[in-house]
Amino acid sequence: MTVSRRATEIRPFVVMDIVAHAEKLEAAGHDVVRLEIGDPDFPTPDVIAQAAELAIAEGSTHYTQSLGLPDLREALHVRYRDHYGVEVDPTNIVITQGTSPAMLLLFGALLDPGDEVIMPDPCYPAYPNYVTFLGGVPKLVRVRAEDGFRYRPDEVRAAIGPRTKAIMINSPSNPTGAVLGDEDLKALASIAEETGVHIASDEIYHGLDFSGPDRTILAYTDKAFVLNGFSKAYAMTGWRLGYMIAPPEFVRPAEKIQQNFFLAANAFVQHAGVVALTRAQEDVVRMRATYDERRRYLVPALEELGLTILSPPGGAFYVFADASCWGQDSLALCRRLLDEAHVSCAPGVDFGHGGEGFLRFSYATSRDRLREGIRRLGEWAAANVQS
Ligand SMILES: Cc1ncc(COP(=O)(O)O)c(C=O)c1O
Repeated sequence: MTVSRRATEIRPFVVMDIVAHAEKLEAAGHDVVRLEIGDPDFPTPDVIAQAAELAIAEGSTHYTQSLGLPDLREALHVRYRDHYGVEVDPTNIVITQGTSPAMLLLFGALLDPGDEVIMPDPCYPAYPNYVTFLGGVPKLVRVRAEDGFRYRPDEVRAAIGPRTKAIMINSPSNPTGAVLGDEDLKALASIAEETGVHIASDEIYHGLDFSGPDRTILAYTDKAFVLNGFSKAYAMTGWRLGYMIAPPEFVRPAEKIQQNFFLAANAFVQHAGVVALTRAQEDVVRMRATYDERRRYLVPALEELGLTILSPPGGAFYVFADASCWGQDSLALCRRLLDEAHVSCAPGVDFGHGGEGFLRFSYATSRDRLREGIRRLGEWAAANVQS
């Protein structure tokens, strides 16, 4: 028996190996400062958890429509109108079990074998894997620290060929924390309009933008797909709730994929999602303020250790720091820091060749743990790095 080529070709999340190793050290009794994973340390706000409990008590334990609960789609319509000033027809919204399945719907509905998707290098590692899994071709366009990890529009334009179907964007970004501004989005939207290529915008870190208001791509072009979810801003990673907003001609194809592969998102979690949108905004603001305080601590603290942060993060909860002065091979460096300093972080190379030499530090953890991590890294650098 042989494993399929499709499954063989999927690249593992290297950071998950780091997670496994960190857990092994913890099981052996070591205290590890965990800065590798993008999972909020906050509990889900009470008001959301209570809504789920009530929904279960009231019998919301059955399938919903594949496209999602009408109440949740309507709540998203209101949210987009009030928060972004954008009218989104609820019939163009598909509710999913997280942003991840929404990627499968998007690329499944859009790509034929050989079709290309432009994406930044470095980027969230699942993007190229989804595209490859569906027979498509990821086209990586380098983004650089000196440009704030934003695309150069001329390089995006040059990468577009006859088989290009979409340009992927992710603002605020994992792993870099980069935020695309008004000018960036305008430029990309006009490239999309001119060339007939769609924009696929992963907006999962909206609500965690420290530099100004969230900007959705839908304010710039309707030739766009939006992927979003409740995992990050609402601290709901384990609940599995997300959605896709698609141009109308893609909704029925996505619905068919959803019907066959997932049936629908969890019923009571969708009810909780309505409450998240309508009654948890103060919680989002509170958590964002705490992340921002941590960011303001962590960026200069890493710089004081000698790491280079040319482009400090404007959103999400990651710092992407150039650590090449500690070691060129980011995976080997991560392993050393874990074994020798008991600090775990993510190797930049996990996010593409463009991330080699960098480390990603997540500050979805308490200030005390961040401080302890910095102390240990300082000791490690003093003993191992020649100044
Ligand atoms: C950029 C990005 N998109 C999507 C996801 C997956 O989100 P979800 O939990 O909604 O599936 C993550 C998770 O880390 C992410 O960083």
